[in-house]
Amino acid sequence: MTFTPSANSEVDSWKEVQLIYNSALKEIGTKLEILNDEFQHVHQYNPIEHIKSRLKTPESIVKKLRKNGHESTIENMVKFVNDIAGVRVICSFTSDIYRIAEMIANQNDLKVLSVKDYIKKAKSSGYRSYHMIVTVPVFLSDRIAETKVEIQIRTVAMDFWASLEHKINYKFEGNTPDFIKHELVKCSEMITELDNQMLSLNEQVIRYNSRLGKEV
Ligand code: GTP
Ligand code: MG
Repeated sequence: MTFTPSANSEVDSWKEVQLIYNSALKEIGTKLEILNDEFQHVHQYNPIEHIKSRLKTPESIVKKLRKNGHESTIENMVKFVNDIAGVRVICSFTSDIYRIAEMIANQNDLKVLSVKDYIKKAKSSGYRSYHMIVTVPVFLSDRIAETKVEIQIRTVAMDFWASLEHKINYKFEGNTPDFIKHELVKCSEMITELDNQMLSLNEQVIRYNSRLGKEV
């Protein structure tokens, strides 16, 4: 399926939409890098392992609009599709996730539109992650475009699970057999346990080192 804008004027505005969302990704990326650098400076520790960002393809934007019964117009994309710009932040520990979420929420120029905490309560699939939809101002020559960005924050282990589950669902075209779904839920529980143990191990290391008067 391809997205074919109906008029030349729409081609221009689709290009503009892409430019704005791409700028929003850059803005959020820079903000996260700054927070990570500052955290390193103050606490000698990087809460962010890595950051991935992507723009949703026109094909999957159109697919999502159709799924929700909306016509494929630029206006509807901007209004109804919250994840045209997506940023994934991968951390080591669950505690880092909440730290980063809080630092994002505290930025004055960002507006948090919604939060979904699939860590406190995992999805029935076993999916775990912390989601935020925020708007970031993009400063253009003649206006400021408040642009939506979906931020997914998760640990390395949660990310491993999510990418495997995504691949499996893709292979089965959404009809994953029940026993495999069940295995995935079990793996997700093991990952929760692993994340908890790794966090506790890290805390023990910090306590041990601080008793010795060493930095982590
Ligand atoms: P869409 O799934 O994008 O239509 O969003 P939604 O409005 O239902 O929001 P939600 O926050 O639940 O999901 C947004 C995104 O999270 C998805 O596009 C995926 O990237 C990711 N996600 C949600 N659920 C799952 C899941 O069960 N498995 C995996 N691998 N990813 C998921
Ligand atoms: Mg999505």
